[in-house]
Amino acid sequence: MARGKILVTGGAGFIGGNFVQYMVNKYPHFDIYNLDLLTYAGDLTKHREIEKKNHYFFVKADIADRRTIISLFEREKFDYVVHFAAESHVDRSIHHPEIFVSTNVSGTQTLLDAAKRVGVKKFIHVSTDEVYGELDFDSVALFTEETPLQPNSPYSASKAASDLFVRAYHQTYGLPVIITRCSNNYGPFQFPEKLIPLTISRVLNDRKVPVYGDGKNIRDWLHVWDHCAAIDLILHNGRNGEVYNIGSHHERTNLEVVKTIITTLGKTENLIEFVEDRLGHDKRYAIDPTKIEKLGWKPMFTFENGIAQTIQWYVENKWWWERVSSRGH
Ligand SMILES: NC(=O)c1ccc[n+]([C@@H]2O[C@H](COP(=O)([O-])OP(=O)(O)OC[C@H]3O[C@@H](n4cnc5c(N)ncnc54)[C@H](O)[C@@H]3O)[C@@H](O)[C@H]2O)c1
Repeated sequence: MARGKILVTGGAGFIGGNFVQYMVNKYPHFDIYNLDLLTYAGDLTKHREIEKKNHYFFVKADIADRRTIISLFEREKFDYVVHFAAESHVDRSIHHPEIFVSTNVSGTQTLLDAAKRVGVKKFIHVSTDEVYGELDFDSVALFTEETPLQPNSPYSASKAASDLFVRAYHQTYGLPVIITRCSNNYGPFQFPEKLIPLTISRVLNDRKVPVYGDGKNIRDWLHVWDHCAAIDLILHNGRNGEVYNIGSHHERTNLEVVKTIITTLGKTENLIEFVEDRLGHDKRYAIDPTKIEKLGWKPMFTFENGIAQTIQWYVENKWWWERVSSRGH
């Protein structure tokens, strides 16, 4: 890739934020634009180390605000778009599905229109394995790129709808798009409403840790830095019109994850509190990453060293998660 302008949406959030830092540090010859509405999940203090760099820019905007988005694209003529911005929390989608339609569906369609208008060279749409629905506990099946879409929550339904718009813009208008579908991410700067940072922050404060149902639901954990490297590779070498699943075969039950954190922090399992299960709680997610591995990606982290690094990060960065967790509730 030659020099150019990359628009990263949702770069004040967890994965987008890590990706912005990764790109700003790795590619000084690219101008990196971070566009974010700064909802409860967005926060710019995480970018203190990069905000003074002269190839990093921040734009506050709503991706569903058509006029603003179209005029921004016409002014800046972005070469590449990496689209992370979304409402991302399943529990919130159960209570307020309408926000998920506005941001995840209409917002994505607005970006596609803007990208088409200025002729971007590549549009990467970051989606989720949750669009595939769930796998049974006793099955050994994995989600492949060919698995049918069967979303179960308003969140995953909104992501599946956005994926279909992305595909349609490729089929109809020839827009150079790629869809990525990753498993559950963890790592630095994740908002403490999600399982791993919630558990770490509760345990550090000697507070009860809620676990849904019997804790047997299985997630396939991907370190966010491994995810960033995968997207970088796809941005350079991915084929337009394709879907790439990203996951690192780190399947764990929620209870195993919580117990690992409690043990690492030297506390006891008395902190665990089983609570009423989430409505429509998907049983198991598991990704087959063969296709992206063939492209040349492999994860750097095992689950054991990834979770240890993440726990250590939350211990050392209380200033960040205490500040952000006082918002959004
Ligand atoms: N976190 C995971 O484990 C995971 C797993 C699979 C896929 N994903 C996908 O990855 C992407 C990023 O997830 P995340 O965990 O970093 O989410 P996040 O909730 O931490 O961040 C989302 C960001 O989007 C911004 N945003 C929300 N609505 C917006 C709007 N209307 N306009 C502009 N910005 C807006 C928020 O301010 C926030 O900064 C999402 O598309 C999500 O569906 C996440």
